Amino acid sequence: MSRLIVVSNRVTPPSGKGEEAVGGLAMALAAALREYSGLWFGWSGKTIPEFSGQLNLQRIDGVTVATVDLEEADLNEYYNGYANKTLWPLFHYRQDLTAYDRSFDEGYQRVNRRFAETLAPLIEEGDLVWVHDYHLIPLARELRELGITNRIGFFLHIPWPAHQLLTTLPRHSELVQALFAYDLVGFQTPEYRQAFEEYVLNDADGVGLGEGRLRAFGRTIRVGDFPIGIDAEEFVRLADSARARRTFDVLAAHTAFRRMIVGVDRLDYSKGMEERFLGFERLLAEHPDLRREVLFLQIAPISREGVDAYREIRGRLDALSGRINGEYADIDWNPVRYVNRNYRRDELAGVYRAAKVALVTPLRDGMNLVAKEFVAAQDPTDPGVLVLSRFAGAANQLTSALIVNPNSPEEIAEALHQALSMDLMERIERWRALFDNVQREDVTAWRDAFVGALAATRDRDQARSAEGPFYGEQARPLPVDARLQPNDRTERPGKDQAGEASALRDPEARGDAPALRLPTGAGRGLQVLGRDQGSLARPPRT
Ligand code: ADP
Ligand code: F6P
Repeated sequence: MSRLIVVSNRVTPPSGKGEEAVGGLAMALAAALREYSGLWFGWSGKTIPEFSGQLNLQRIDGVTVATVDLEEADLNEYYNGYANKTLWPLFHYRQDLTAYDRSFDEGYQRVNRRFAETLAPLIEEGDLVWVHDYHLIPLARELRELGITNRIGFFLHIPWPAHQLLTTLPRHSELVQALFAYDLVGFQTPEYRQAFEEYVLNDADGVGLGEGRLRAFGRTIRVGDFPIGIDAEEFVRLADSARARRTFDVLAAHTAFRRMIVGVDRLDYSKGMEERFLGFERLLAEHPDLRREVLFLQIAPISREGVDAYREIRGRLDALSGRINGEYADIDWNPVRYVNRNYRRDELAGVYRAAKVALVTPLRDGMNLVAKEFVAAQDPTDPGVLVLSRFAGAANQLTSALIVNPNSPEEIAEALHQALSMDLMERIERWRALFDNVQREDVTAWRDAFVGALAATRDRDQARSAEGPFYGEQARPLPVDARLQPNDRTERPGKDQAGEASALRDPEARGDAPALRLPTGAGRGLQVLGRDQGSLARPPRT
């Protein structure tokens, strides 16, 4: 049976205790991998003086996790550098914050090569490899150079920028070319996929072959949009847990006779928190009757402290929350409560449930899972209102939210006022439509759609005997009218593809099946954390 190998920079299966670094990717992958007997590979989050390629293996919550430590220079050039000072700001339309430094690019390529060299010996014939996010765009190319011919898919969790913006990146063509070493490249929304296609057609001399196939750089790949979801069932359960109820009660006591507005975001400049604070301030200024009636809780755990722009936004938010409180607070009321801590998932669910309004207003966001968690945590008989940025990927699906332009404090203030005045019937009606989507397009649907489409790539393409084998296929000139037409876009896979994904799912993942079959000579060293290697190969029954 094929195994699923997931690769991401951040490898943090949630302990549920609120200790781990937060982020949508880790939350989604932990949920997505739960039913597979696969492997999750990535960076340990630790640095060592010299890269050793030594693997640390753990089995956590039914998932086998293999990590490597990186050097300090890797951290600076790859993670803080190319990933978070170059690609992240550029892909979030912050060209003003984008740093171009050749050493970052070199560090990025080096770490991807190191990841490939460490991972390649673990890959067996028939394994599906699923690579995640902007840290690892060149990984497939590196794996191919090491002779890996397996199907490899890539999913981008963040936006793909308009092609005019992407061309400001030095060596943009190499970056896009690296994506053509994959079999399938997935995006969060049709808009991001189209932006990628436009680049390929306009700047890379590529052609669209229909059915979501794109050809450029001598290779053909498939592209598609696969909106990521949450584990809705689990979140509903969490919202009803004892700890969630306790958190709810504590907040209810602290906000007696007041209505709470909540924001939950990693402390990142892309999340639009400054504009949001200004929007709330404007609400207080324009509606004196609401003063003392409402309070705004912003939870914002510190993120990427090694990057200046993150330290700066932190300073600005500290000042802004202080200023609003200084202006409006009273002896028994602080309008803004601003905390920088991590919380357990069940506590967070209780916080969402206690809020009457959620402000989810990123300036740009690949998807935004907080919006979906808020919806899942609501009381169906008295739900809160979601105010959502039109620039979050989630706005494509959560159309019954109050959709705002996050750059406009005026619009945010108006939407807040509308949310706080909304009657119960409208709240329930809107929430039902939102919850229906969150439940239907959940993390399992996302995983099955992507894995199904990846599993189907070669089959479908090899069946086109006239075009030769998919991998290694050489580009041939195509007639101009074969260029991509709007209705050529990839459809999300139908039932048959999702079926292929379920066939890959391992019913014995938590039973007697070996968690990880290590070929002879795998990795350059093997360090098993938590359990001995014998028990790793045979996970206990749960
Ligand atoms: P991103 O991936 O950019 O951080 P998302 O909204 O998609 O944005 O995902 C953020 C994830 O991090 C969500 O699952 C959210 O619950 C989690 N999270 C955010 N803040 C906290 C916090 N203070 N404590 C625990 N989890 C948090
Ligand atoms: O979801 C986007 C993302 O960049 C993920 O790739 C990442 O894990 C998450 O946000 C949190 O960021 P970081 O891993 O840098 O803490």
